[in-house]
Amino acid sequence: MKITFLLVLSLLALFSQPFLSQAERCHPQDKRVLLKIKKAFNNPYHLASWIPDTDCCSWYVVECDRTTNRINDFHLFSASVSGQIPETIAELPFLESLMFRKITNLTGTIPHAITRLTRLRSLTISWTNISGPVPAFLSELKNLTSLDLSFNNLSGSIPPSLIQLRNLNDMRLDRNKLTGNIPESFGNLTPSLQYLYLSHNQLSGIPRALGDLNLTSIELQRNRLEGDVSFMFGRNKTIQYADFSRNMLQFDLSHVEFPDSLSSLDLNHNRITGSLPEGLTKLESLYNLNVSYNRLCGKIPVGGKLQELDYTAYFHNRCLCGAPLPDCK
Ligand SMILES: *[C@@H]1O[C@H](CO)[C@@H](O)[C@H](O)[C@H]1NC(C)=O
Ligand SMILES: *[C@@H]1O[C@H](CO)[C@@H](O)[C@H](O)[C@H]1NC(C)=O
Ligand SMILES: *[C@@H]1O[C@H](CO)[C@@H](O)[C@H](O)[C@H]1NC(C)=O
Ligand SMILES: *[C@@H]1O[C@H](CO)[C@@H](O)[C@H](O)[C@H]1NC(C)=O
Ligand SMILES: *[C@@H]1O[C@H](CO)[C@@H](O)[C@H](O)[C@H]1NC(C)=O
Ligand SMILES: *[C@@H]1O[C@H](CO)[C@@H](O)[C@H](O)[C@H]1NC(C)=O
Ligand SMILES: *[C@@H]1O[C@H](CO)[C@@H](O)[C@H](O)[C@H]1NC(C)=O
Repeated sequence: MKITFLLVLSLLALFSQPFLSQAERCHPQDKRVLLKIKKAFNNPYHLASWIPDTDCCSWYVVECDRTTNRINDFHLFSASVSGQIPETIAELPFLESLMFRKITNLTGTIPHAITRLTRLRSLTISWTNISGPVPAFLSELKNLTSLDLSFNNLSGSIPPSLIQLRNLNDMRLDRNKLTGNIPESFGNLTPSLQYLYLSHNQLSGIPRALGDLNLTSIELQRNRLEGDVSFMFGRNKTIQYADFSRNMLQFDLSHVEFPDSLSSLDLNHNRITGSLPEGLTKLESLYNLNVSYNRLCGKIPVGGKLQELDYTAYFHNRCLCGAPLPDCK
């Protein structure tokens, strides 16, 4: 009896030790900062799991790095919190990914303090009511691979300094109230950039230098772009998806060459003239094309996917004709 009792005691002592040390992974400094953030947001229901006596690595919204146990992820999604982005967020120095998404009552501007988060790879502030400019100081976050500021209330022009983000893979500034030209400097954006989304703003100019990039996807629909964008195309480009619809573009499409990579091209609602180039019939990956509501003329070239498309891909032009539109006279 006695021996068994002693054995049980020593076993308990043996196993409880590592168990206890695993119980709290959270770094005390990170916990202090998170509790300040909770307070700054007025103790919202969404952060109810953030209780001082518990391990912050198990709290909702945040995650800890497996080896350092420091907070590296902060994803606040679809939460009914109100107020501004708390500056204290910058006191989580190990953050690699920061997201505020679908938060109607998140207001104010993007705080300068976030430039202290030098390890950030991904910054998302989207579907909120933050306003003010797209800050030039974001260019200090050198490790960013993804910048998503879409669906907000941001205004002013796009800062040219964003080209300093040399690791960027995707940039989304779409669905804001941005004005002015796309910066001339954007021709020197990093070659790693594949996705550029600037749609649903009030942008008025697109620099020719943008054609030097090797993008996979570009969205510029619903802006106020004028003139020619044919420099975005050409045999040697890598573009797969391009949407320039609902602008005021005005150029002759007749001799534009498209890359084999092109799979989707939307040019609807512009002032494009000329005819559809024969080259469109050679594009094997093309599954979507829309040139409706322009000033195009002539026979739709026969071949490729062009006759499989719905007639609405071509309607409302000056005098386009041939299948799937009515025959030419
Ligand atoms: C946003 O704030 C308004 C006014 O304070 C409040 O009525 C509304 O419920 C809040 N909405 C959300 C989703 O938190
Ligand atoms: C911004 O706030 C308005 C009302 O204050 C609300 O209707 C709208 O949905 C909000 N936008 C977003 C993206 O949450
Ligand atoms: C940026 O990323 C590189 C490569 O992953 C890393 O070596 C560097 O420490 C990072 N910079 C900061 C400030 O974390
Ligand atoms: C959006 O920004 C404009 C200024 O550009 C401001 O007047 C308006 O109140 C902002 N809307 C919200 C919901 O914050
Ligand atoms: C784009 O790709 C082509 C061919 O792959 C390459 O020659 C060119 O240097 C690239 N341009 C940039 C800006 O990366
Ligand atoms: C495409 O690239 C090849 C080889 O890099 C070059 O010889 C050719 O002139 C380029 N064509 C166009 C239309 O830019
Ligand atoms: C082309 O765009 C027009 C205008 O937005 C739209 O009505 C039509 O349904 C579209 N057709 C196709 C095939 O995408």
